[in-house]
Amino acid sequence: MRIKSIHVGVVFSFFMLALACSPDEPDNRIEHDLTPFVLDTKHLTPPTIPADNELTEQKVRLGRMLFHDDRLSADNSMSCATCHVQSTGFSDTNTFSIGVNGFPGKRQAMVAFNMAYNTNEFFWDGRAHLLRDQAVLPIQDSLEMDLAMADLITRLSAIEEYQDQFIRAFGSSTVTEERIGLALEQFMNSIISVDSKYDKYLRGEVTLSASEERGRELYFAEFNPGFPDSSGADCAHCHGGLNFENDLYMNNGLDSDADFDDYGRELATGNQSDRAKFKVPTLRNIELTPPYMHDGRFNTLEEVVNHYNTGMVMSSTIDPALIYPINSGGLNLSNQDVQDLVAFLKTLTDQEMMNNPDYKSPF
Ligand code: HEC
Ligand code: HEC
Repeated sequence: MRIKSIHVGVVFSFFMLALACSPDEPDNRIEHDLTPFVLDTKHLTPPTIPADNELTEQKVRLGRMLFHDDRLSADNSMSCATCHVQSTGFSDTNTFSIGVNGFPGKRQAMVAFNMAYNTNEFFWDGRAHLLRDQAVLPIQDSLEMDLAMADLITRLSAIEEYQDQFIRAFGSSTVTEERIGLALEQFMNSIISVDSKYDKYLRGEVTLSASEERGRELYFAEFNPGFPDSSGADCAHCHGGLNFENDLYMNNGLDSDADFDDYGRELATGNQSDRAKFKVPTLRNIELTPPYMHDGRFNTLEEVVNHYNTGMVMSSTIDPALIYPINSGGLNLSNQDVQDLVAFLKTLTDQEMMNNPDYKSPF
């Protein structure tokens, strides 16, 4: 639906005159209209979209093409969507995704929905500051799509369909790394998951089963072994808020110092105090995005809950909230509690996002 047009033609004509002599500037800018893209986040607070990249129909559309286009990889065999598969929560169920050269990456793929709610950097270690910075890295990564940016620019510039879409989105057919990043950022920011059973429960549209309800209580209740009847698993301490994450990097007790083989956040910040800390990921659609953790070490949600229940180990950077349960011999969850927690986690699955035609390949 067309809400309002921003007329930028006049502004662009002015720029054309001002920049007519600059060798970097295209001479084919034309008048173009941008239509604001309306993000429907239902009962979720709308996210903060970067002010210099407000969503528009035209840029979201271009980003969607880029996201699904195999021509973004060296041998035309792989797109972002190869590893971020819509039907499995925009993630990859392979432990380590295989890139165009046949080699596996070093970490489990992350999900690429509700990115607009992620406000503290990207990747498991947060090494990409903005989503637009992140988006251009897999294209050039030799373990992923392995296409040099200059080659991608040459390639896209020769495709008429892209010339047309770049004009619509940016006012000229010039392909640049920045524009590719901005368009991919827009498409990912347009992917919203807000229709799980739990969302419908919050909106009063459905009720939870007895097991799901017990799991919900355990998920949100604090760990308090002195009062076993009300002691919970305190998952919301980190996987909190309506996107079930906290925008922080933490160590959740997977390994002791001697067993750290991925330094995580330290690789991005250089601080030893960040060693083996990883992004706290959203738990939305978690049922469909196995295997779990940055190295995909757990295959099922039962294994994950058992990790928090009995498997956590101490280390120098463990999150302080986990020291009490570790010193208490774990969360003391019964088998029934584990099942109930898993039942609750499965209420976070959003089939409507999985099937949303707006996110599918336009090709
Ligand atoms: C070969 C598989 C593969 C391809 C292709 C791929 N990704 Fe990823 N993606 C991953 C992996 C693995 C990670 C985690 C890497 C890490 O943390 O070091 C990731 C992480 C991400 C994240 C970070 C999410 C977060 O919460 O921080 C985003 C966003 C993303 N990818 C988008 C894209 C886009 C856009 C493309 C295409 C330009 C793309 N990916 C192509 C495998 C892939
Ligand atoms: C102290 C913070 C913290 C608490 C409490 C916590 N988590 Fe986590 N969780 C994390 C971090 C950090 C990661 C990512 C760790 C990694 O991959 O190295 C994670 C990862 C996960 C994953 C894997 C996600 C994925 O995409 O691979 C699941 C599932 C999960 N947690 C569920 C839970 C449940 C259920 C609870 C409660 C029993 C819980 N977490 C409590 C911090 C926490």
